[in-house]
Amino acid sequence: MRLLVTGASGYLGWHLVRYLAACGHQVLGCWASREVRFPDAESARLDVRDADACRALVNQWRATHIIHAGAMTKTDECERDPNAAQAVNVDGTRHLLEAAERADSHFTLVSTDLVFDGRRPGGMYPVEEQGGPDEPRPVMEYGRTKLAAERIVRDYMARGGAAAVVRSALIYGPPGAPRPCFLEWLLRNIREARGAVFTDEYRSPVFVGDLCRLLERVATRRATGLWHASGPERLSRYEFALLAADAAGLPRERVIGRRQADVALDAPRPADVSLDISATCAAFDWHPLPCRDGLRVALSELSGA
Ligand SMILES: NC(=O)c1ccc[n+]([C@@H]2O[C@H](COP(=O)([O-])OP(=O)(O)OC[C@H]3O[C@@H](n4cnc5c(N)ncnc54)[C@H](OP(=O)(O)O)[C@@H]3O)[C@@H](O)[C@H]2O)c1
Repeated sequence: MRLLVTGASGYLGWHLVRYLAACGHQVLGCWASREVRFPDAESARLDVRDADACRALVNQWRATHIIHAGAMTKTDECERDPNAAQAVNVDGTRHLLEAAERADSHFTLVSTDLVFDGRRPGGMYPVEEQGGPDEPRPVMEYGRTKLAAERIVRDYMARGGAAAVVRSALIYGPPGAPRPCFLEWLLRNIREARGAVFTDEYRSPVFVGDLCRLLERVATRRATGLWHASGPERLSRYEFALLAADAAGLPRERVIGRRQADVALDAPRPADVSLDISATCAAFDWHPLPCRDGLRVALSELSGA
């Protein structure tokens, strides 16, 4: 297996390249603006807005599998510059998928829970049936571009293409990646009793190690379809912060809760985008950690951050 991973300079991609290399695969980790190097994997620059560059690199690496984790991920930036978000998240996915098709590479798109509007009572969105009540209706530009990217991949699958979409929830884990995950920011805020976390925004956070394991299984099996990939629990950001405080031995009183309505945001946030992962767990024998356990693992590497 020769894997090409985009977003290798980002939080998930950086962990994923290292995990895949540790599994014994040959891996090319691609960065766009911030160069990264890996001890056991190759790395190269790739801007997915450049269709020719996508084709050339996929051919040159003789990629048998592509995992597309690179994206414009900051929701507020996407809101302020929707054309840029379209160019990276939508056109970029199309370019890389076309390169995958020509090279007969399996393609996995990493998507997001933020394709949903968060209005499903009690959340826990199942993988939607077409035309059903749980169809994605993004409320922000980031979610709209990621959904448009999903549709490109789903059209390809409908034509018999070897591809999958893995919708991730909020990702947490240990530090070390070139871009920090929100857990580092959260713990700093709790230590200093500043910042605030929403009491009325629900997600089902996933431990990065579990997500890497799933992505490896999806790729190695050349699986197709749409899969939800979150942790097993629905938690508000505030509840997650309390667990993080417990795991870090910090007083719970330092966690400040706020309601979304009390904070000015550029991009609107859906209230509850927790995911139902039962189909993914059954298909891939996948058992992601509850947050209490995932946080313990993450924090064992976070001491001093
Ligand atoms: N983090 C989460 O909680 C979360 C939740 C759900 C879904 N996801 C999805 O998971 C994936 C990874 O997210 P992340 O948070 O790990 O990302 P991240 O840390 O924000 O990093 C973004 C990555 O995308 C790359 N990128 C940006 N523009 C690019 C371009 N034009 N061409 C190629 N690569 C480009 C960046 O490269 P440079 O830095 O080198 O420019 C960087 O490696 C994304 O697809 C995201 O939508 C993330």
